[in-house]
Amino acid sequence: MTPSVLFVCLGNICRSPLAEAAFRAEAARRGLDVEIDSAGTGGWHAGDAPDRRAQAVARRHGIDISGLRGRQIEAGDFTRFTHILALDPQNLRDLRAAEPSDATAELGLLLDLVPGREGQAVRDPYYDGPEAFDVTWDDVTLAARALADRLGG
Ligand code: 4NP
Repeated sequence: MTPSVLFVCLGNICRSPLAEAAFRAEAARRGLDVEIDSAGTGGWHAGDAPDRRAQAVARRHGIDISGLRGRQIEAGDFTRFTHILALDPQNLRDLRAAEPSDATAELGLLLDLVPGREGQAVRDPYYDGPEAFDVTWDDVTLAARALADRLGG
């Protein structure tokens, strides 16, 4: 079965679109067959393009994320995806609270995949300066490599 991965943060305009972009790039490099999407636990930015600072850091790494649009997690995601990965521990708690009884997806914390970073948050850069998005990019890139290793690439 083709694995499918949903990355989830709070707003789906900063961290999870970058996780989606980094993992798409890593999967493409390795020729990995995987479906990839992202969503937010909150719905305030549904329909919005990624934050300009997130678009800028992705562009600096050669990836255009301007066409992505924010959406809120929905009940069907818990059966549609094989893996749902939260960007921070609060997102994971919110996912567990929203998990329907028929859920089949494996829920986890993204940085649990990275040795030495278990239990940690990909820090929310939204209220920080643009340099915080470089830290986000570094974190999601490490996780993307670890996830590709895990999924057999
Ligand atoms: P994200 O960042 O969860 O990484 O997309 C945020 C985006 C928007 C808000 C908070 C965090 N907000 O409060 O609107």
